[in-house]
Amino acid sequence: MFATDVYVERRKKIREGFPGGILLFPGNQEVPFNYPANTYAFRQDSNFSYFFGLDHPNLAGIIDLDENKEWIFGNDVDLDDIIWMGKQPSIKDQAALVGVINTAPLKDIVTLIAEARKKGRVIHFAPPYRGETILWLSDLLGIPHADLRKNVSTELVKNIVNLRMKKEAREIAEMEKMVDVAYLMHTTAMRMAKPGVVEQEIAGTIEGIAISRGGAVSFPVILSINGQTLHNHHHGNTLTEGRMMVVDAGCENNLHYASDITRTVPVGGKFNPRQRGIYEVVLNANLKAIQAVKPGVPFRDIHLLAATEIARGLTALGIMKGDPEEAARKGAHTLFFPHGLGHPVGLDVHDLEGMGENIVGYDEEVIRSKEFGLAFLRFGRKLQEHFVMTIEPGVYFIPELIDIWKKENKLAEFINYDRVETYKDFGGIRIEDNILVTAVGGRVLGKPIPKTVPEIEEAMQ
Ligand code: GLY
Ligand code: MN
Ligand code: MN
Repeated sequence: MFATDVYVERRKKIREGFPGGILLFPGNQEVPFNYPANTYAFRQDSNFSYFFGLDHPNLAGIIDLDENKEWIFGNDVDLDDIIWMGKQPSIKDQAALVGVINTAPLKDIVTLIAEARKKGRVIHFAPPYRGETILWLSDLLGIPHADLRKNVSTELVKNIVNLRMKKEAREIAEMEKMVDVAYLMHTTAMRMAKPGVVEQEIAGTIEGIAISRGGAVSFPVILSINGQTLHNHHHGNTLTEGRMMVVDAGCENNLHYASDITRTVPVGGKFNPRQRGIYEVVLNANLKAIQAVKPGVPFRDIHLLAATEIARGLTALGIMKGDPEEAARKGAHTLFFPHGLGHPVGLDVHDLEGMGENIVGYDEEVIRSKEFGLAFLRFGRKLQEHFVMTIEPGVYFIPELIDIWKKENKLAEFINYDRVETYKDFGGIRIEDNILVTAVGGRVLGKPIPKTVPEIEEAMQ
């Protein structure tokens, strides 16, 4: 946990955004996976973590602006709990660690909220995403669960987004530590990527590194020789010479700050000319996009720059044709790069995504596109100092998508379909880093993870 003042200060800042009312922050509960007592590893809600710091289940935080009081609701353990879990600090003592004086058993929140509702006070809450929280909130607020989303407080969401998007130096330090653990995960995967190895062996090994050095993986490991499937969680293939292995994996520490890194490597450790050709296209897009990061630049422009670089590179390889800028403007690159360039990363690996992608990533100036490819860009608005973004361009050969486009002769003035056919067995390549927006540009977080062709070939020896 950070020092007490950090949480006091964060709550002070969020209070400044409201003239009155109640801000309600449900913590997460334990979630069973096959019977009640067998639960998933506990993961605290990120907003609760940010403002109230405590990493235990069944807590709720309240900032009562009208009464000028802050509360943590939760139950002290009883003797049975102590026998099974050991001695636990009281809720009062835990709350003191984050500067909250008022505590009460969890059931008392029902009375507080019921009285507030009777008086017609505004109760602000952010979008819930877990079934348990949805049911709990629905009972507490007397709102049918299907209507909860309609009653989410846009003001609270906007205020949370404004605070959490701008990373404090201490948060960046935590994220850099997690990139350093990702360094170990990725370089280990590189060394293991030999013909005959099953993906599962590598995925399990690197998840173990995350658990042993951090808190957990920040999302389920994506690792596959079928990298053309963007989020491939199937780890049953045996590595064979000639395939590229995509590893998209990161970790989070006990404070829940995440890293999100992708590297793509040739099975066996040596790029063949075809692999190297596509790899350099993606690497160039990654590097040019990182160079373009600066406060005031719309992230959508950097996405389009990466798209143009990909079109340029694929044109040089004879896979695309025509003017690369026009090709990118018309979306021809989306056959190969159908996703967005990146997203914020922080306490959540897709930071704040649960608050609503459009509120986080778009505004009056930059409206979300509905076009294939660009519509998948989770974040388009102008960058600001202290944001942390991923930059993760990719080139994929998705046979099903190629077949459809080819049949429609879609954007045929920019695509050399005959040549594309010869890449249908290629797979995909993605290269992802985590970038801090500084006053003057972008800084790649953490220890540099092998990325150029010579660096990767060396790391794989
Ligand atoms: N880790 C999933 C992503 O890169 O967005
Ligand atoms: Mn990723
Ligand atoms: Mn990512």
